[in-house]
Amino acid sequence: MNRIAIVGGCGHVGIPLGLALASKGFQTTLIDMNSSAVECILGGKLPFQEEGAEQILAETLGKTLHVTTDASAAKECDALIFVIGTPVDEHLNPCVNAVMHTISDYIPHMSDGQLIILRSTLYPGTFRIIENMLLNAGKHPRLAFCPERIQQGKGIQEIFALPQIISGATPEALEAARELFSRLTDTLIEATPEEAELAKLMTNSWRYLEFAIANQFYIMAQSSGIDFHRLYDIMTTDYPRARHFAKPGLAAGPCLLKDTLQLASFYNNNFFLGHSAMLVNEGLPNFLVEELEKKLGSLNGKKIAIFGMTFKVDSDDIRDSLSFKIKKKLEQKLAVVLPVDPYLKGMVSIDDALATADGIILGAPHTAFKDIRPMVPFIDCWRLWK
Ligand SMILES: NC(=O)c1ccc[n+]([C@@H]2O[C@H](COP(=O)([O-])OP(=O)(O)OC[C@H]3O[C@@H](n4cnc5c(N)ncnc54)[C@H](O)[C@@H]3O)[C@@H](O)[C@H]2O)c1
Repeated sequence: MNRIAIVGGCGHVGIPLGLALASKGFQTTLIDMNSSAVECILGGKLPFQEEGAEQILAETLGKTLHVTTDASAAKECDALIFVIGTPVDEHLNPCVNAVMHTISDYIPHMSDGQLIILRSTLYPGTFRIIENMLLNAGKHPRLAFCPERIQQGKGIQEIFALPQIISGATPEALEAARELFSRLTDTLIEATPEEAELAKLMTNSWRYLEFAIANQFYIMAQSSGIDFHRLYDIMTTDYPRARHFAKPGLAAGPCLLKDTLQLASFYNNNFFLGHSAMLVNEGLPNFLVEELEKKLGSLNGKKIAIFGMTFKVDSDDIRDSLSFKIKKKLEQKLAVVLPVDPYLKGMVSIDDALATADGIILGAPHTAFKDIRPMVPFIDCWRLWK
């Protein structure tokens, strides 16, 4: 197995995977409909921040790494990997059709025996739908589902370190997936496709629930005038069973909420904990704004800086960032919002914000903010500014 194509190859999962494969000597082609991302990579740059990726890109581009918008590049490759987005729609239901349409577009380029790997997070049952779609089209590839579990921005490092879940429609498909991923990581975990679908969704939902517990307790304590961060220390110091107690913070991004909602949809919307977690995590921005309002009185006309607009620390990714929910809420209260983020263009500088803001909400605890000591009322659910 040597030639690999990745559909959705210029996305957040596609790039680290493609670079990892290219770095191991596979002839790897990233296929993506996003022509500006393709141009960017062809120009030797990454469309977003990814630790350790630039060096591999420089070493592999044009040698083992190729990038194109042309779907026909999928033809005659030994393995075709799909990593397109699998969001929920405006009714918060899984968009299974998007994956089906993309795969259907690629059917003419598929051949019997070819390894097809689904790597997007799949709504339970999608694997079998795709298996049947391919059979209906008279195609007999070796179909596998190997969900990605890397952390945004740390993909390169994690691809080589994390255990890889592998599953296949047939023993031959499973064996082919094993052959490919054993070149990337030492530990492979076998599952059925149905187990792999649920395992991925439950992993993300569990993480989302962990944050919700911390956030609910934070809101509960702060509302009753008790400093949650002191409570956190009291509860967790030298107490082994609280070792993994998550800390409060804005729980956002393109995966955790949507995967919790996919699981809820799978379980006929009876995933009470999942929906409760959504209420808590999505409610935190409003709570933070109200807390600042209590400190400042009316927010009307006040300059309020949001430090950190990305969805997580030290990242340039704004997808589904709750800082934008805070911004909206502040604007509804007629505040003048000063967005600050060293990872994004067009933002207010840290110094200007500190010099002019009447109040501050910490949206993402970037390292660049660590040594700041705000002189105006502020809200820091992350505990960066102790
Ligand atoms: N971002 C993460 O850290 C992460 C981690 C684990 C799993 N996942 C899962 O991986 C999947 C992909 O997520 P992502 O964050 O990489 O999404 P993304 O939006 O960053 O990337 C998807 C890419 O697919 C491309 N694309 C969409 N339709 C296409 C088509 N028909 N042909 C060619 N290219 C097409 C888009 O242009 C985009 O570049 C999702 O299922 C997600 O849940 C993401």
